[in-house]
Amino acid sequence: MIKFILTKDYDAMSAEAASIIGAQIVLKPDCVLGLATGSTPVGTYEYLSAGYVKGDLDFSQVTSINLDEFKGLAHDNEHSYYRFMYDNLFKKVNIDINKAFVPDGSIADADLACKKYDEIIASVGCIDLQLLGLGHNGHIGFNEPSDVFPKRTHCVDLAESTISANSIFFSSEEEVPKQAYTMGIQSIMDAKKILLLVSGTDKAAIVKRAFFGDITPRVPASVLQLHHDVTVVGDVAAFSEISHLIWIYKQA
Ligand code: F6R
Repeated sequence: MIKFILTKDYDAMSAEAASIIGAQIVLKPDCVLGLATGSTPVGTYEYLSAGYVKGDLDFSQVTSINLDEFKGLAHDNEHSYYRFMYDNLFKKVNIDINKAFVPDGSIADADLACKKYDEIIASVGCIDLQLLGLGHNGHIGFNEPSDVFPKRTHCVDLAESTISANSIFFSSEEEVPKQAYTMGIQSIMDAKKILLLVSGTDKAAIVKRAFFGDITPRVPASVLQLHHDVTVVGDVAAFSEISHLIWIYKQA
C-alpha cells in the first residue's frame, strides 16, 4: 500500500521526511536506516542534523547502510558517496561511524565488492526504514532500467541520464564514473518500510509511470507497488501528474 504525502515545496518535503525518519529513531533507537545520496535528501539530512543539535535525536545506536557508491572512488575521494554522507550527515550527528556503511568503490574486483556488501547487508539485519530518491529513468539506488529486477548488490553501467544528473557534483560530465555498485532490488524490497522522496516538475512524469504504470524492470521503482509499506513524500510539482489519481494521506 502506498501512502502519498503532499508537501508544498522542497523544504516542507524535507521537514516531513526528517520527521518520519526521526520518529523511527525515537521509536527504535537501534534501528537500521537504509540511506540515499543525491540532491533530494540533502534537506532531509539538514533537518535530521538540526534535530540532533537540538537534542531531539540520538543516533548513537543507529546503523546505516547506503544504497550505492561509484566504482573506482575510495571513501576519501571528495566525489564519493561516502564523502557525501559524511559531509551531509555522519559528521554532523553522533552516529557510530563504524556502523555507517557505504559500498567500497575502491575494490576493483566487482564480484568481491558486491559479495562483501551483501555480507554487510546480511549482518546488519532487516532494514527498518529505507530512504529512496527516484531517478528520471525510474531507477532506485542505481538499479537502472533493465530486463530483470537485480536481486542483490551488483556492478551497474550507469545510464546516460544518471551520469548527466550526477555531473552537478563533479567539475564536468566526463569526470563522472561510468559504473557503480548498488544494492539490489530484493534488498530494497526486504526493508520493513520504504520512504521515497520526490521534488520538482522534472520528476512528475516518472512518478506517474512508477506508481501508476506497469510493474516492469524497465521502470525499476515500479516494483515498489508490490511493497506493503511505502510512503511517498513529494512536493506539488512532483505530484502534478498524479494529483487527480491519488488519495492524499496527509498534506504538509
Ligand atoms: C542515490 C540513489 C539514486 C538517487 C536518484 C535521484 O544514492 O540511490 O537513486 O536517489 O538518482 O537523485 P536526485 O535526488 O539527485 O534527483
